Amino acid sequence: MEQRELDRTGRTVSAVGLGTWQLGADWGEVSEADARAVLEASAEEGVTFYDTADVYGDGRSERVVGAFLADHADDGFFVATKMGRRVDQEPENYNPENFRAWTDRSRRNLGVDRLDLVQLHCPPSATIDDDATYDALDALVEDGTIAAYGVSVETVDQALSAMTRPNLASVQIILNALRLKPLEKVLPTAIETSTGIIARVPLASGLLSGKYDASTTFADDDHRSYNRDGSAFDVGETFSGVPFDVGLEAAADFGRLVEETAPDGLTSAQAAIAWVWQLPGVTTVIPGARSEAQARSNAAAGRVPPLGDEFLAGVGRIYDERVRALVHDRW
Ligand SMILES: NC(=O)c1ccc[n+]([C@@H]2O[C@H](COP(=O)([O-])OP(=O)(O)OC[C@H]3O[C@@H](n4cnc5c(N)ncnc54)[C@H](OP(=O)(O)O)[C@@H]3O)[C@@H](O)[C@H]2O)c1
Repeated sequence: MEQRELDRTGRTVSAVGLGTWQLGADWGEVSEADARAVLEASAEEGVTFYDTADVYGDGRSERVVGAFLADHADDGFFVATKMGRRVDQEPENYNPENFRAWTDRSRRNLGVDRLDLVQLHCPPSATIDDDATYDALDALVEDGTIAAYGVSVETVDQALSAMTRPNLASVQIILNALRLKPLEKVLPTAIETSTGIIARVPLASGLLSGKYDASTTFADDDHRSYNRDGSAFDVGETFSGVPFDVGLEAAADFGRLVEETAPDGLTSAQAAIAWVWQLPGVTTVIPGARSEAQARSNAAAGRVPPLGDEFLAGVGRIYDERVRALVHDRW
């Protein structure tokens, strides 16, 4: 597995990481044993970057990752957490006192003195644009509570605003074959400013694996049931903001493209993940997994040779034909 520098942290991370929202909540039931198996399998396959958040299962994901870390104290794993969604997303809530309390809780959950990376968890634009936000984060770095900070964003404009900040280590953004806008300005700006890019939702919540059809249902406590209209959080986080029926058609096109132009034996999910980490400017891609088998297969996508021009052109064509009009100007 290729390891890349996450520039301002002075650390290297695997090109394919692991998203651990599934190990907290909102994706139906994932047992503690399965959660642990996902983490161990990822580690065995060369994953060194783990993304979590204080809000995933109200700390469950962080605690499971913390237990895993405790058993791998010398393995140099990098854990990025997030803060700021256990309260209303109002600018006044993003203040030094809350930052202190939230990071202290994450340190306890993860069992570490210093957090490797803390990301503001999709805060309001006003918070991303405010000097005071970065002054407060700089203070946490100075006193050793956190090693580095980043911002997880919903929109390209938010990403571009955050990347003007000299000490920002990373931007986390949705980037997948059904969400191409970050290729236009965000990735080139990341290269120019040496900002790490953490690409999330690479499978469009599973759609790009090609395993769903019109009869597929999801558990009541799975956001793919309850957030299709964006009533719980930004609808872009669920199927990448693409209506399910359109997503099925795009995923079928994507499956055909993989069959016709990708190396033999590659699954659609692996091709979707490999396409993301191979984009210039991406530091790591963080597919979520609910089982050991998914985790192993996703990590193996980190060893896929460069996908050819025909494949890259095909991704652009599917995007233009199926989803551009629905998503491009929205995020
Ligand atoms: N605001 C934020 O900062 C934010 C928001 C969203 C996500 N994230 C982070 O990004 C990570 C990734 O995004 P995501 O989990 O939302 O979406 P994703 O990675 O696009 O999709 C994950 C889902 O894809 C399916 N899947 C995974 N591996 C598969 C495989 N090998 N074969 C077939 N299906 C597979 C599983 O669906 P089934 O459950 O149907 O099996 C899994 O639950 C999260 O875990 C989280 O860490 C951050």
